[in-house]
Amino acid sequence: MYEDLKGKVVIITGARRGMGKADALAFAKNGAKVVVADISQEECQLVVDEIEKNGGEGLALKCDVTNEKEAEEMVKKTVEKFGKVDILVNNAGICQFKPFLELTEEEWKKTLDVNLKGYFLCAKAAAKEMLKHKSGAIVNIASVVMGQIGMGMAGLAHYSASKGGIAALTKTLALELAPYNIRVNAIAPGAIDTPMAASTKTDPKILEQTLAMIPLHRMGKAEEIASTVLFLTSDASSYITGSIVVVDGGWLAM
Ligand SMILES: NC(=O)c1ccc[n+]([C@@H]2O[C@H](COP(=O)([O-])OP(=O)(O)OC[C@H]3O[C@@H](n4cnc5c(N)ncnc54)[C@H](O)[C@@H]3O)[C@@H](O)[C@H]2O)c1
Repeated sequence: MYEDLKGKVVIITGARRGMGKADALAFAKNGAKVVVADISQEECQLVVDEIEKNGGEGLALKCDVTNEKEAEEMVKKTVEKFGKVDILVNNAGICQFKPFLELTEEEWKKTLDVNLKGYFLCAKAAAKEMLKHKSGAIVNIASVVMGQIGMGMAGLAHYSASKGGIAALTKTLALELAPYNIRVNAIAPGAIDTPMAASTKTDPKILEQTLAMIPLHRMGKAEEIASTVLFLTSDASSYITGSIVVVDGGWLAM
């Protein structure tokens, strides 16, 4: 438990399922007020219902992160309901395997729009609110597939470019927002058992190939990312900004 997260106002994008939902439930357990944002209002409400059933507080919001107006509306409605924004988890993402030579301009644009432009728009809207009270934390969900300290992956030209962009965005925002006491970090997950990675799990051959690259020899759980998100947004990490924390069962150590 992180005592300092009690009463904090947290926005999580892409939170109707997967890692975003695990983050939402973990923050609520720690006493934070959680805004569950995603493309489906109804599915966000189901997560909020679960939070409220356990005695927590939440707000379900429809937000397509590629739309600047919706990102700004999300922050506005959060402030109307809870009075402030302390934490943003940029988590919404899409991933489609396709060889580079077959990738269309439209597919490239869609991935970059959701995975990179969306992070920029939500960070900008939330940071404007955070700097009013000179404190805040932003966590961007990248991936081990991000080049740089990470790696490339065949079939993921668009996805890896977007995730590499998140790493660069994270370090730059950390520099620009440090004077306002807003910390910005990223998490690079490996293979995590969520709906996005369903094909890895259901195809025994892909699963075997994937696990062969992971020293801990299993996929990660959404809750294992959530525990890192909590650490990076709590006072326990008060001197950490501009970092990319790899949570991958040892994959990148291979
Ligand atoms: N699962 C993995 O193995 C893995 C590995 C590395 C990184 N990631 C990253 O983790 C994050 C969470 O993914 P997940 O595994 O929980 O997948 P997921 O598909 O379960 O969740 C992603 C969520 O993002 C939402 N989303 C998609 N487009 C959106 C948009 N335009 N606006 C708002 N929300 C939108 C989806 O509706 C979905 O709820 C993503 O950024 C993903 O790229 C996942």
